[in-house]
Formats: sequence, structure tokens, C-alpha cells
Amino acid sequence: MKLKLTVNGKAVESEVDPRLLLVDYIRDKLSLTGTHIGCDTSNCGACTILVKFPWSNKFVSVKSCTMFAVQAEGAEIKTVEGLSDEKLHPIQKAFWENHALQCGYCTPGFIMQAYAFLQENPKPTSEDVRRGISGNLCRCTGYQNIVKAIIQASKEMEAK
Ligand code: FES
Ligand code: FES
Repeated sequence: MKLKLTVNGKAVESEVDPRLLLVDYIRDKLSLTGTHIGCDTSNCGACTILVKFPWSNKFVSVKSCTMFAVQAEGAEIKTVEGLSDEKLHPIQKAFWENHALQCGYCTPGFIMQAYAFLQENPKPTSEDVRRGISGNLCRCTGYQNIVKAIIQASKEMEAK
């Protein structure tokens, strides 16, 4: 099937198998390997990206292993590679400064989820953050520093 969408601000057109998962399309066809596959069963959140569907005007976070690529027809998607024109987005900077990652496998998913969460909750409490990232799993960090990083990022983004 023909697929037309926008990825990180660029129009993209591809021929895809209707069964192809969006995460596999992003990684294998577009070579955007910052989006990870941790479970393939919608549990871990490592594959989280942002999608603006044609009927909406805002980005929402989506676990890209839960969608077929063809379901993104006409949508705009953002992966971790397209998060910032600057060197690092404030969320990425805050993860770095707060040691919010160890192996880093879960990190792109957390960052994209944090981005969507902060759009809706610009001044969150730690409890809010914990609820907001509850669909993402990290096996290394114990979450404490991830929560700290998202709170720091919220303050920097608010100040901007
Ligand atoms: S790969 Fe784990 S939720 Fe998608
Ligand atoms: S940093 Fe290793 S899984 Fe999160």
C-alpha cells in the first residue's frame, strides 16, 4: 500500500506491506533507530513516539508497536531524532544532568512520553510525573532520577 506522512518535518512517501508495524517502518525503512523495541507487546514504552493525526491539531504519545504503519497515513510523526533543532531539547538536557539513564535503552521512549506529558501538564508534581510515565518501563534507574529530570525540564520549559 502507498503511505504518505510527515516524519520529523519532512514529507515521506513509501510503499509498505499492510501488516508492517509503525515501529518497524520507522526503524527499518526510515533508519531512525532512536525508536527502540523492548517488548513488541505494548508493555515497555521503548517505542514511544509522537503522532499528530490528520483529525487533530496536537501531538499525542503513541507506542509505535501498537499501530500499523498504514494507520499513520496523513499523520505527522516525531521521533527522538526530530525532537529538537537545538543541540539538546531541555528534556534531553535534564536527563543528562540528572543521570536519568544507565543503559539508555528505555530513554528515547521516556523522553517522548515526557514531551507529550509536559504539553498537557506544564507544572507537574512528582506524583503527576510518576502517573504520566507509568506506561514506560526502565530496568536500570529506579525511576527517581527520571522523575527529577522531568521536573527540571518542566521548569526550564516554563521559563522559556
Ligand atoms: S516495544 Fe514495548 S511497548 Fe512497544
Ligand atoms: S536506563 Fe536501562 S532500561 Fe532504562
